[in-house]
Amino acid sequence: MNKQTQYERLLPQVKALCEGESDMIAKMANVSALLHQEFCFWWTGFYRVVDNELLLGPFQGPLACVHIGYGKGVCGTAWKEERTVVVPDVEEFPGHIACSSESRSEIVVPMRKDGQVVAVLDIDSRELGTFDDVDAHWLELMVDAVVGR
Ligand code: SME
Repeated sequence: MNKQTQYERLLPQVKALCEGESDMIAKMANVSALLHQEFCFWWTGFYRVVDNELLLGPFQGPLACVHIGYGKGVCGTAWKEERTVVVPDVEEFPGHIACSSESRSEIVVPMRKDGQVVAVLDIDSRELGTFDDVDAHWLELMVDAVVGR
């Protein structure tokens, strides 16, 4: 099964998990588990904007750094620039924050509520070049579902 088909099948599940649930952390927990299990990513999780920094939220995978500043690393860049950031090779990304030395490529998708970034979805892979526009497109729809769109 290619990843396009995997994402197509997964989106209704994500919507069903999130529908009628108002607690953002609970939704993030289940969505990170679902994505992580389906794709066998290395690290899959959320950072929430709390007190003007990114704070570690629900995730699956190895231990991760807890605080990330605005504009720092891939996550802080996605937050600041309010766009999905695809990093084919983390060593080529200036300022990349290496929570795990195993991580080789990464995608970070900002989650917006009422026009403001409230969290980011961060996914790491142990292989180079795992993520592209297909992942960006579908993961943006997934975070919309978590927010309730
Ligand atoms: N690599 C991220 C930090 C978070 S971990 O990957 C879980 C970054 O550069 O922002």
